[in-house]
Amino acid sequence: MSKTYHIAVIPGDGTGPEVVAEGMKVLHAVSQRFGFELDFQMFDFGGERFLKTEEILPDSALKELREFDAMYLGAIGHPDVKPGILEKGILLKLRFELDQYINLRPVKLYPGIDCPLKNKTPDHIDFVVVRENTEGLYVGSGGFFKKGTPDEIAVQESVNTRKGVERCIRYAFEYCKKRNRANKLTLCGKTNVLTFAFNLWERTFYEVAKEYPDINADYAHVDAITMWFVKNPEWFDVIVTDNMFGDIITDLGAMIQGGMGIAAGGNINPEGVSMFEPIGGSAPKYTGKNTINPLASICAGSMMLEHLGEDAAAKTVETAVMEVTGKHIKGLAAGTMGLSTTEVGDLTAKISTEI
Ligand code: IPM
Ligand code: MN
Repeated sequence: MSKTYHIAVIPGDGTGPEVVAEGMKVLHAVSQRFGFELDFQMFDFGGERFLKTEEILPDSALKELREFDAMYLGAIGHPDVKPGILEKGILLKLRFELDQYINLRPVKLYPGIDCPLKNKTPDHIDFVVVRENTEGLYVGSGGFFKKGTPDEIAVQESVNTRKGVERCIRYAFEYCKKRNRANKLTLCGKTNVLTFAFNLWERTFYEVAKEYPDINADYAHVDAITMWFVKNPEWFDVIVTDNMFGDIITDLGAMIQGGMGIAAGGNINPEGVSMFEPIGGSAPKYTGKNTINPLASICAGSMMLEHLGEDAAAKTVETAVMEVTGKHIKGLAAGTMGLSTTEVGDLTAKISTEI
């Protein structure tokens, strides 16, 4: 009997359901070819459900989600719901409660994609950001004092635990070793100003580095990193950083790889259930138009296959995506592809079964 993976699917809001449908199409095609089954179970969390029922993410759902082999997410964010409610109540809650402590974000320029950087080709842009995903400024520690008065004070603290920092750094070293490309791991921090948080990061980084003599342990300040992403992206192989810096630099990373239409990520709990998603938002204005680019979602699907141990299937999907970007679509942004959302999905699925 062939192996069956149980996948929880949260299509979410806006264009989320459209891109997820194309991702599932490609995953289904490739599963048949490589002889495994994918059992998708749909969950309707998102803005629509919240507006109807006031329910964001019940605890019973969290319990249920823990039983899956992986999770596949579309997008969270609805124009009629105040910003922050769904992001915190669904996306961040899932990351935190399921202890998905790594946010893995590859930045890779695929063939045929118009790179905004002059003279940079796929040879220059191929690195991965390992973002800490459950601590830092995202824990929500802090508060107001004298709110609404002229003396108001707002404090928001970055929480960094030795355990949280170390497990992230260890993951990054292991990932860099397994990737075996340039064998260079760069810690992205701000040791010159954030002298507590990044002192802990720096000490931990160089301590763990001793166990990896074959990996070049490198350091750069976050502000300099943004400069070098633009000027010398070829310097990077794997980057490890905290939650907030990782959030910021991966949006820049997405732009140098062509845009949100192609950028995917994984929220990983190496000991539990992990969740894969396109890193862009729900793009509500394109909802239902069949113009949004599903490739980021398809790439998230490829990352999910790799995580499940289906490396050959994952590679096939990535190669098919590269063929689509290299030969079949004109642009990545919604409405610029020269093909519709469903056509891109159909084509990627077809190529995935033929190459
Ligand atoms: C991301 C997003 C989220 C984050 C938001 C939607 C809470 O920007 O996945 O990068 O800040 O992590
Ligand atoms: Mn972000």
